[in-house]
Amino acid sequence: MEPHWWRVSGELRAFFGASRGLGAFARAEVREFDMSRSAGRGPGAANAPNLIEQVRELTGLSDEALARKLGVPVTLLRRQRAGSAPLSAEGRSILARVVATSRRPNARTDRVKAPHVEDGIVCADSIEHVKQLPSDSVDMILSDIPYGIGLEDWDVLHDNTNSAYMGQSAAQGRAGAVFKRRRKPINGWSSADRNIPLEYYQWCSSWAGEWLRVLKPGGAAMLFAGRRLAPRCVVALEDAGFNLRDLLAWRRARGVLRAQRLSVVFQRRGELAEAAAWQGWRVGNLRPTFEPIIWCFKPYRVTIADNVLDHGVGAWNLERFEAQTGGVDNVIEASFDPGEAGLVEAQKPVKLMRTLIELCTRPGSLVLDPFAGSGSTAVAAQETARRCLAIERDPELCQLARHRLSKSKGAAQA
Ligand SMILES: C[S@@+](CC[C@H](N)C(=O)[O-])C[C@H]1O[C@@H](n2cnc3c(N)ncnc32)[C@H](O)[C@@H]1O
Repeated sequence: MEPHWWRVSGELRAFFGASRGLGAFARAEVREFDMSRSAGRGPGAANAPNLIEQVRELTGLSDEALARKLGVPVTLLRRQRAGSAPLSAEGRSILARVVATSRRPNARTDRVKAPHVEDGIVCADSIEHVKQLPSDSVDMILSDIPYGIGLEDWDVLHDNTNSAYMGQSAAQGRAGAVFKRRRKPINGWSSADRNIPLEYYQWCSSWAGEWLRVLKPGGAAMLFAGRRLAPRCVVALEDAGFNLRDLLAWRRARGVLRAQRLSVVFQRRGELAEAAAWQGWRVGNLRPTFEPIIWCFKPYRVTIADNVLDHGVGAWNLERFEAQTGGVDNVIEASFDPGEAGLVEAQKPVKLMRTLIELCTRPGSLVLDPFAGSGSTAVAAQETARRCLAIERDPELCQLARHRLSKSKGAAQA
């Protein structure tokens, strides 16, 4: 003899099997719902009023909203609720799906199935590698891209017209890490200087179109970019088809003032009167305490609500952001945990990457980082139960990233 719940769900399966658009997942969920809800009641427990009440209880939807969802007049819905009018098979299917997804939000399946992409650390040139990924497959791109300011060799993205570039003078050596490398002095006079922003734009354009292609509609791309050249990156992204949502700021705990004293320059030249006259004046920049984060997204069709249901992306999670940052501001303060910093130049705190990942994605989502460095994004993804495809060109950094991942806590233990 079949147990009672199985018979009840058998009736429902007959209903739902005939209806359009209800997958195996939803049918299984309805069976589960019947098991817990209808114990001790007769076969009528799965009738229309019961389903409507269930949905109202789970979602708090008004009669009007529910009627809109089912595409019926509100008067008819009220009669269906009271049991005096029948509910169509399609209406049952819609309600059953609501019950299923409301009871297990994390198991919800997107209406559009995305192609599968393997996660992990890939040691490759990302500009080439991303071309091989399927379209509409990535939930979020989060990357600390080269800023084009000559931080390291990989950060030189323009024609170097200065023979001393990236070298070190004796005075720099004595100054220590503050002036570790000789960057290109920019006076704006030479055409090479003036071309730097354009060359950076061209470099960003060489990958921006592929990033757009692999992202799901509505998916976010968040990029760290330098203050000086970030505008060119934004334009390259927009020209490729992205929409800019906002510029966030990461406020660092520390930033070093590298501005040279003009009086000291004059003193070295023996121009003592000038040194006195220009006391207090500097060349260079104020202390760099923030870095811009470009937040853009791939355009989506019709409504954002439908896009979220289709692809699972497009909205952002205020509750998780507040939990991570203690506020709702678009200036984010995040510092390194003890012992975390110092692995590579331009390293980003895992805590900061976790915040951005949780802002834009759900557990199980795929995050892509095409300029992975030591793997901070990948570690943050692992700690928040997301999958990450992290691409890095330098084999030593790939090893470091794999090592960090193997040492980091998974979400379950985090
Ligand atoms: C700003 S660093 C990323 C640092 C990272 N946020 C971290 O916390 O370790 C940028 C990285 O991009 C890598 N890179 C530059 N061009 C690349 C390319 N075409 N493909 C893959 N990686 C690249 C560099 O080797 C460098 O490690």
